[in-house]
Amino acid sequence: MDKNLTPFWELAYQDESAVAFSVEPNKTIKEFEYLLSKQAHIIEAGCGEGQNVLYLAKQGYRNVDAFDLSEHGIAKLQKRCKIEGIQLNAFTADLTMYQFEQKYDLVMSFGTLHFVPRRDWKDFINRAKVHTNTGGIHIMHIFTDTVPASEDIAPFAIGLAKDEEIRELYSDWEILQFKSYTFEDEHPGVPKHLHASNKIVARNI
Ligand SMILES: C[S@@+](CC[C@H](N)C(=O)[O-])C[C@H]1O[C@@H](n2cnc3c(N)ncnc32)[C@H](O)[C@@H]1O
Repeated sequence: MDKNLTPFWELAYQDESAVAFSVEPNKTIKEFEYLLSKQAHIIEAGCGEGQNVLYLAKQGYRNVDAFDLSEHGIAKLQKRCKIEGIQLNAFTADLTMYQFEQKYDLVMSFGTLHFVPRRDWKDFINRAKVHTNTGGIHIMHIFTDTVPASEDIAPFAIGLAKDEEIRELYSDWEILQFKSYTFEDEHPGVPKHLHASNKIVARNI
């Protein structure tokens, strides 16, 4: 991530009344939540202001970790946890250097991996796989270069995946879902634009 430029989400993370992306959790979490017990160990990389982990903690999951590079994003999430009495472990970390300290039953990341070089997100996924319990799952969502990066993310999207590239990393796991799709997006100050992405749900067998 270029330290001299500020991505649009940082402004929203600094504004208590703003919603950076969504108040709703990613729908794939709801779709595959049935595979998890409430004792499941869960971690999200690049959680932003935390709508996914807040949802899971509110559902009764007690072992929820979440990290993001953004101090403002994590501060906003921690503040919300305090106000609402929600228990989860949110901390700042860089996924390119993150070392897992335990094994997990769910490792997830949405719209984040393409902000680090391809070699780094692949290394992260491989470290995450080693630190996933048998039967545990990954839900990974990454932007691809099927369409050019939109102007709002172009300076930061240094690791766009090739279409289906992420799938190769899970050739030794059970693929529960794989989707390759484009979607329309809009942010304040940025015209409507398209993102191409891959989403994979895979289980350690
Ligand atoms: C587009 S936002 C998505 C946030 C959240 N996953 C969501 O879906 O709402 C991308 C997030 O990736 C985080 N990020 C970028 N590079 C990162 C890195 N190297 N390590 C951890 N988080 C990173 C940013 O701070 C930002 O919160």
